[in-house]
Amino acid sequence: AATTRYEAETAPAVCTGTIDSDWNGYSGSGFCNGTNSAGSYAQFTVSAPASGTATLGVRFANGTTTARAVSVVVNGTTVTTATFEGTGTWTGWTTKTLTVPVVAGSNTVRLNPTAAAGLPNIDHLDA
Ligand code: GCU
Repeated sequence: AATTRYEAETAPAVCTGTIDSDWNGYSGSGFCNGTNSAGSYAQFTVSAPASGTATLGVRFANGTTTARAVSVVVNGTTVTTATFEGTGTWTGWTTKTLTVPVVAGSNTVRLNPTAAAGLPNIDHLDA
């Protein structure tokens, strides 16, 4: 099936932080720099043709040497966890694949960091 790209800087996506453009290599017009705190999230609204599982490609950069952990919250329920490893530099964008349950139609997918460092920088989500 065709892939849809959801940019972190484009509503209805939500970024608890700032939309930045100071590290190049991002798609669209910027990326979500979540506030460095637990619970400062990036959220996407993903359309699914049918209920089942969706494969999500989350493009991120983590210019630190410490992985950043998130809960993946779909429609308000934590469905899995993910860790976003260090990518070497803040311009070192990498895509992480997540598989999550979805319902037919609109789904909120929130990347909710569980530690004080917060999110990596989040560019977009492909679904
Ligand atoms: C640096 C970097 C930001 C990044 C932040 C972080 O400040 O410039 O783009 O979001 O580190 O640690 O999350």
